[in-house]
Amino acid sequence: MHHKSVLLHEAIEALNIDPSGIYIDGTFGSGGHSRLILSKLTKFGRLIAFDKDHLSVEIGKTIFNQDSRFSIVHMSFSKAMNYVHNVKLLGSINGILLDLGICENQLFDANRGFSFIKDGPLDMRMDITTGQTAAQWIAMSSQEHITWVLKNLGEERFCKKIAKSILFHRRIRPIVRTHELSKIVSDIIVPSRIKKNSWNKHPATRSFLAIRMHINKELEAIAKVLKDMYNLLSNKGRLVIISFNSLEDRLVKHFIYKHSRIFPELPKLALTESQIINIFSSSCQFKNIGKIIPTKQEIKENIRARSAILRCAEKIDKTYINRYDLSKTI
Ligand SMILES: C[S@@+](CC[C@H](N)C(=O)[O-])C[C@H]1O[C@@H](n2cnc3c(N)ncnc32)[C@H](O)[C@@H]1O
Repeated sequence: MHHKSVLLHEAIEALNIDPSGIYIDGTFGSGGHSRLILSKLTKFGRLIAFDKDHLSVEIGKTIFNQDSRFSIVHMSFSKAMNYVHNVKLLGSINGILLDLGICENQLFDANRGFSFIKDGPLDMRMDITTGQTAAQWIAMSSQEHITWVLKNLGEERFCKKIAKSILFHRRIRPIVRTHELSKIVSDIIVPSRIKKNSWNKHPATRSFLAIRMHINKELEAIAKVLKDMYNLLSNKGRLVIISFNSLEDRLVKHFIYKHSRIFPELPKLALTESQIINIFSSSCQFKNIGKIIPTKQEIKENIRARSAILRCAEKIDKTYINRYDLSKTI
């Protein structure tokens, strides 16, 4: 199954590409966004791609093997800081793109265990070379922990009942197939109890999303890369993130808002100039460029786009803070 990139042109436009710049595609997938980034770069530009899925890395190596501007690493984008530090490019990245979640080729490959539609082993790992599978996690976790994951990562209102039923069924025999889990969840959420506005969602959607996010530590990875963002980017470097659920988007939105306050409230104390600059440097690191959602046409052509939100921010040139007329702030 071919993955159709979401907000393809919007994302590349938001990166505001410098043709000889250095870019990171943190979620290579099938390479749709990477291909368009490369088409905007001259021979002096460079694109470093990351993916946790070794199959995506193989795809990248195959399709761009002749392109010396391109390299791809089998690694989480949460480790981008280490990688970029090792290749001596800290503070030199002109743009970072993250298109979160999983690809259609992962979702529709039953053997990966992401799908409640196709039966397969209950795996759900993006990186199959390491970590616990969903089946192992379900076999080992307490009812409280399963409830917590379903509630907090899936916003599943039937979390307690589903967790109780999982424990009941796993005592009879291990839950190792996606259809087994999907049936347990669906039997709890009878269609009449699904909220009106989610009539078209499969009852297991939220539970599968929650377990996938937990297994792959998805929110932790986003939080880590955001923490490192300022050091990764060059002055005026852009961060572009496409989220597919409210938890991901909330993290990104809060990060951008927190670090893009132009006029931070200063304590009513006499401060030295360097103290003021310090306060500005931490709360005024990025300029909020804005958010974009897919058009109705894109959603019609690609249903996966319906929940996408793209957010973009630009690293502020530090010299701007130093040039700022500090007397205005007191
Ligand atoms: C939605 S797809 C990206 C699609 C891609 N932009 C395209 O146009 O083909 C997300 C990809 O990111 C990868 N991924 C998700 N979280 C990751 C992480 N923390 N580090 C590296 N790759 C990740 C997944 O394995 C998947 O291949």
